[in-house]
Amino acid sequence: MINLKSKIYIAGHKGLVGSAIIRKLKKKGYKNLIFRSKKQLDLKNQKKVLSFLKRNKPDFIFIAAAKVGGIYSNDKYRAEFIFDNLSIQINLIHSAYLCGIKDLIFLGSSCVYPRNCKQPIKESYLLTGELEKTNDAYAIAKIAGIKMCESYNIQYKTNYKCLMPTNTFGPNDHYNALNSHFLPALIKKVHDLKLNNKKELTLWGNGLAKREVIYVDDLADACIFFMKKSFSGTTLNIGTGKDFSIKQYAKKILNKIMPKNKIKIKYDLSKPNGTPRKVLDIKLANKYGWKPKTKLDEAITKTYLNFLENNKVV
Ligand SMILES: NC(=O)c1ccc[n+]([C@@H]2O[C@H](COP(=O)([O-])OP(=O)(O)OC[C@H]3O[C@@H](n4cnc5c(N)ncnc54)[C@H](OP(=O)(O)O)[C@@H]3O)[C@@H](O)[C@H]2O)c1
Repeated sequence: MINLKSKIYIAGHKGLVGSAIIRKLKKKGYKNLIFRSKKQLDLKNQKKVLSFLKRNKPDFIFIAAAKVGGIYSNDKYRAEFIFDNLSIQINLIHSAYLCGIKDLIFLGSSCVYPRNCKQPIKESYLLTGELEKTNDAYAIAKIAGIKMCESYNIQYKTNYKCLMPTNTFGPNDHYNALNSHFLPALIKKVHDLKLNNKKELTLWGNGLAKREVIYVDDLADACIFFMKKSFSGTTLNIGTGKDFSIKQYAKKILNKIMPKNKIKIKYDLSKPNGTPRKVLDIKLANKYGWKPKTKLDEAITKTYLNFLENNKVV
């Protein structure tokens, strides 16, 4: 049973999700946290991962280390997306098993579900149809991670849980225009419009694709909630259960960053829309007693303030 003294290893602690998990664990009074930077421990290196876990023997592992990005990088760097993610997962999950570590949470993604599946997406829709082409390398790696956890649970009686978060954003996000996810990319674009006093915002695709987002602190909250709580099956969706079009997000962000300006929205139809609609069914997580707490507007405000702080523009 996990308690405040348990040794918890957070893989990927410098990232968006890993850093939020650490913030939340510390706030809740967990004291025995361990982490290593990529420089100290490249999780693609099987030998080093096994020896690290053998030496440190954590009671619990959060796997928040992964190769992550938006549509552009998922499509362009698909070899790295499949190789890095498979390697990181295989090394951590198998070494955890070899070291007798019974409990871990593996973070998957809503990208694992078929491109055209029924909405909202239930956990049971996994592997029922074709994946979105632009990120299928990443999705296949994540599906392999889920199946690995499931298989070890069945054969070795481990307690490896997989949480499937929707698009996540918040403090410590990535704002590089080509590698970031749509929401931080929008924040950066609108911020740049403001700086350069421009009056036109260009969106990728036709702006009609619908997306759900979750504030990273709510995802971290779910990670810790389900670290302690058992659930049937291996996979659980984590989101808000609500979606908006890219155009609606753009308007919300314009209102936040440039409230007094009249900005024309243009659409770059040469760029892909990605999956037409993606909203998770979170009834199962609700049934176990978890729900997200942060309102979208508040989450965008906090994220933008963090963006300004990190970019030293306040
Ligand atoms: N962000 C989202 O919208 C989203 C949505 C759904 C699911 N998820 C899942 O949530 C998890 C965390 O995502 P995130 O957004 O927090 O990603 P992130 O900000 O890019 O963080 C990933 C972390 O993994 C580390 N990492 C990558 N390769 C590594 C390696 N070979 N060895 C050691 N560390 C390595 C990175 O270290 P460096 O910084 O040193 O490279 C980084 O700290 C991932 O599994 C992702 O699939 C994210």
